[in-house]
Amino acid sequence: MRQAGRYMPEYRALRQKHTILELCHHPDLAAEVTLQPIARLGVDAAILFADILLPFEPLGLGLSFEAGEGPRIAHPIRRAVDVSALPPVDPTHDLGYVLDAVRLAVRALPANIPLIGFAGAPFTLASYAIEGGATRSFAVTKQFMYAEPAAWHALMGRFAELVGRYLAAQAAAGARALQLFDSWVGCLAPEDYREHVQPYSRRALELARAGGVPVIHFATDTAGFLDDFAAAGGDVIGVDWRIPLDVAWQRIGAGRAIQGNLDPTLLLAPRAVLEARVRDVLARAAGRPGHIFNLGHGVLPETPVEALQAVVEVVHERAAAHG
Ligand code: CP3
Repeated sequence: MRQAGRYMPEYRALRQKHTILELCHHPDLAAEVTLQPIARLGVDAAILFADILLPFEPLGLGLSFEAGEGPRIAHPIRRAVDVSALPPVDPTHDLGYVLDAVRLAVRALPANIPLIGFAGAPFTLASYAIEGGATRSFAVTKQFMYAEPAAWHALMGRFAELVGRYLAAQAAAGARALQLFDSWVGCLAPEDYREHVQPYSRRALELARAGGVPVIHFATDTAGFLDDFAAAGGDVIGVDWRIPLDVAWQRIGAGRAIQGNLDPTLLLAPRAVLEARVRDVLARAAGRPGHIFNLGHGVLPETPVEALQAVVEVVHERAAAHG
């Protein structure tokens, strides 16, 4: 999830001098931000500093980040012709600066800290490309999906090929795991997931496997169609706090690894409440191999760094106890 970010003083200091896109575009700065949480938090893996929306730049969609309102897309996709007009994108060339950041970060990280590369899943990318920014209802996205099925499938196919090859390229550059973020797919009805999304997530995950490293398939709010979500692929399935970890694990099957699932808002709770809930997640995992402890979604900007440090400490204590 977002490990770096506004909750961290050293990140805020860099953001005084650079926009998010500048940090992403300069591999040396992106590598520096990637390393910040490692020293601060003592986590076991680093996630690359980049953003899922970077492919929108070579696609000509016009990406910017506005203070307080998140991403903004200047030329959203609203008609079928907008899809057919999208230029071809070669991730190894057009997003080469991200691959350079992967190489620099891998070189700078301690050998025992793997780097996780990532990309946005076709649905979550399509939602930003069509809405033009953040949304609560996803109404414009769903309207396009229902009214323009051919263009929808063409768009999802484009994103699947692009992010699948982009992920494999990140592994080739040194990432030791890959994460596909379908953050907002939980807004869909199960039948819409199956028909309009699952084939494209499956394709992106299949292409990513060519990278030869484990792939984490992440989303939030998937309890209503977790079986279909897991069936799309991924060596590891990410789940959020809306479903207990043990229940989710039973549904995805014991043969699959699981990532999750603390509610990030608990980091704002009194320390005893936070630690009890961390222990509850670990108890539900019951020491079985294949659990990656994580938050169910990203760190909130107002989170105290000490709360994250406390979580890492409790998880490491338990992991040591389980040998
Ligand atoms: O933690 C890290 O260092 C990894 C880097 C990372 C970023 N974005 C940098 C970033 C990762 C893994 C992402 C993924 C991402 N980006 C997702 C999927 C994960 C999730 O949280 O669901 C999504 C949906 C996006 C799109 C995006 N980027 C949004 C909605 C925003 C605005 C968020 C906000 O709170 O304003 C961004 C901006 C962004 N990308 C920030 C960071 C650290 C915010 C920090 C800032 O404003 O400087």
